[in-house]
Amino acid sequence: MRNLKARNFCLIAACTLGAFLARNGESAQPAIAKKAAVATKRPSLVPFGKISAALSALPEFSVNLDKTLKTSMKKRRDFAWKIVAKVFAPVDVSSSAYTGTLPTWQTWYGEDDFKDIYAAYRKSGSTDSTSPLNLVTTKNLGRSLSSKNLGKTLKQFTRLHKVKGLGTNPLPEPGTGFVTYSPGMIEHMLKNATSISKCDPDAFPADQKPSKAKNTWAMCLRAEFPKDGVMIKTRWAKLASGIKTYGTTATNMETMWNASNVGQFASSGTATPDASTMYTVTDEEGAVWGLEGMHISTKDVRVWTWVSLWWSKATDKDKDFGADRPSTVPAALPALANYKMCVSSDFLEGDTDPGSHYRSSDQTKSLGDALDKVKSLANGSQWCANPYLETSFSRTNCVGCHQGAGVNFDVTATTQNRVNGIPDFVYGFDNIKDAIDSENASSK
Ligand code: HEC
Repeated sequence: MRNLKARNFCLIAACTLGAFLARNGESAQPAIAKKAAVATKRPSLVPFGKISAALSALPEFSVNLDKTLKTSMKKRRDFAWKIVAKVFAPVDVSSSAYTGTLPTWQTWYGEDDFKDIYAAYRKSGSTDSTSPLNLVTTKNLGRSLSSKNLGKTLKQFTRLHKVKGLGTNPLPEPGTGFVTYSPGMIEHMLKNATSISKCDPDAFPADQKPSKAKNTWAMCLRAEFPKDGVMIKTRWAKLASGIKTYGTTATNMETMWNASNVGQFASSGTATPDASTMYTVTDEEGAVWGLEGMHISTKDVRVWTWVSLWWSKATDKDKDFGADRPSTVPAALPALANYKMCVSSDFLEGDTDPGSHYRSSDQTKSLGDALDKVKSLANGSQWCANPYLETSFSRTNCVGCHQGAGVNFDVTATTQNRVNGIPDFVYGFDNIKDAIDSENASSK
């Protein structure tokens, strides 16, 4: 298995390098020299991000946040844009090798980083260390922004092949990218490693009421994640290959909804954005990758706040789901002026008229129209889905499917169908558990 993986990687690496050489019409030698030049333009080692305070700690959001978000689309969307600005806030990562900033979330922990820190945690022998995050303080950004990591098929797309309920939807082209967790989440996982390792989802049938109401959603952890828990999922594509575009107007929403029994966005064409109109990173071979879509989930409320960003072409970036983007968002990172956003915070829609907040202004009317359309289609559920990530199951609302994490993958679920949760909505829990189990086995 290990050999096979290594060989596949070699093939991909050779392929990419081959394409690079072909484009440049150069021999291997100068390309390698070029590769070194590229490497100095980006930081390779950066300090891991610090725990950032939860947004709900802000006075304007602290009281009954779940109810506030559930009953007002305006408050929900305003809160979500604040989350976007917060996770993209620039962090100065200047060192002797590099001068510049990175969005906060890029200083957080990937699954590989978790493996490193769990190994160090285990070696340290401390089962209840007060600050396990101090054990490894530097992130290898070169590993995170490698062609291998950016080009890795997201597991969601491999799961799709095994899933029932997709109806007649054709399987989407698999997207590639990676998942990142905030320091608060990683610390919680480290401190709960023993419970995670012992987890048996079968011990908690969907109708079994949890014994502690405070820990409804994390039966396989000692407690639910803390309020500063944030998880991120990203999808990237090489700019050179062109970026597929999607429309999300009221009409597009209706077309998506009716495309199948679980919804499917249809691409409207291909665009060729550059680094001024799309957030990009450069891999070790000099290839530029654009951020197509991104999920940001925060544990500000018990069932998480589910925020999603998708890239939009210039001609309609300020329409529908981009119409209410506050200036604080591009202030954090200018390319974000080209992204649209949806958010869900619960299973059911508690705002009786979600479009009402946006209808009366010319600037936001198209958002009102899109929300009205969703309201007329969603049968009482909240909606949020990303054309680049949910692709062939876009009638969904994040939380419906994520309640099944650790147990199943139900592309039709939008309402609550369990009274407990296994890993607090975190699908990556399975990978974290595997990492813990394999480290425990290898260091026995
Ligand atoms: C039909 C099921 C389904 C829906 C709907 C869904 N997800 Fe997920 N999500 C998954 C699966 C499976 C994974 C883990 C596999 C992967 O990484 O691709 C995942 C991974 C994630 C992750 C990485 C952390 C983790 O759980 O491992 C985030 C963050 C996330 N999803 C957010 C969202 C948001 C936000 C939405 C809605 C806009 C959403 N998801 C909709 C199934 C779903």
